[in-house]
Amino acid sequence: MKGIILAGGRGTRLYPMTKSISKQLLPIYDKPLIYYPLSVLLLASIKDILIISTPHDIKQYEELLGDGHSLGIHLEYKVQMEPKGLADAFIIGEEFIGEDDVCLCLGDNVFYGQALTEDLKEAKRIVSSEKKAVIFGYPVKNPTAFGVVEFDKEYNVVSIEEKPSQPKSDFAVPGLYFYDNSVIKKAKCVKPSKRGEIEITAINNMYLDEGSLKVKLLGRGMAWLDTGTPQGMLNAAQFVQSVQERQGFYISCIEEIAWRRGFIDDAQLKKLGEELKMTEYGKYLLSLKRSEH
Ligand code: G1P
Repeated sequence: MKGIILAGGRGTRLYPMTKSISKQLLPIYDKPLIYYPLSVLLLASIKDILIISTPHDIKQYEELLGDGHSLGIHLEYKVQMEPKGLADAFIIGEEFIGEDDVCLCLGDNVFYGQALTEDLKEAKRIVSSEKKAVIFGYPVKNPTAFGVVEFDKEYNVVSIEEKPSQPKSDFAVPGLYFYDNSVIKKAKCVKPSKRGEIEITAINNMYLDEGSLKVKLLGRGMAWLDTGTPQGMLNAAQFVQSVQERQGFYISCIEEIAWRRGFIDDAQLKKLGEELKMTEYGKYLLSLKRSEH
């Protein structure tokens, strides 16, 4: 399975913070926002990843993450000329995806929870063995800001609506989507919405109409944090800081995940730690021991 991180957009909802800097490069506490979705893909053992951003910002992502070899993974970069919508990622990424299945993670989505690795494994399994799409549902207080899942009385999915003014449930669809290869063909059929974008929600509804959409509900023990407002970013940073300080385990530390997944060996982890040893982050890398999890 291939992975795509979409880190485009103008970030206008966070102006002036994002007037000259891409939103997904901004920090959430001690690391750039894009580390969080990248760590989700690594936890899913996805090692071939395409990062899509704007012509203005793509260089900075390359500077930050390079070709991925230092993490034992393979990173590619592509430009989205105009913010045409999330589903455009599969058209831009067509060649990169090839014949594979694909997981799209939005560059500004932060996930954290013990069950995450299991959920990712299960989603991958369903896509590869049943050729279905897997998306998630997460209860939020402000569903109007998201794609929203509508259920019938037996909790079967009836529809997915994009930013409905009258949401039919509190379950938002987070920016983490697992699709089979037919997503490329589907993306090409999507007509632009009222806001002029080819919506991921249209893709999800196509899978639903085919009877091949699985919506997995995420429980209370999972954190899906909002980074769409300054307040959301601050809350997310405080969450990360609190957990890291209390437990001593870092959230979304890409070097640690690469090492624990066996993408890099002890010597490479040490090298990466040495490069950052002036910071707490680097000291953390140097302190890691195999037995901890
Ligand atoms: C996008 C999707 C929406 C989804 C959200 C998750 O919204 O269109 O369905 O719930 O990401 O972050 P946007 O970030 O473009 O407002």
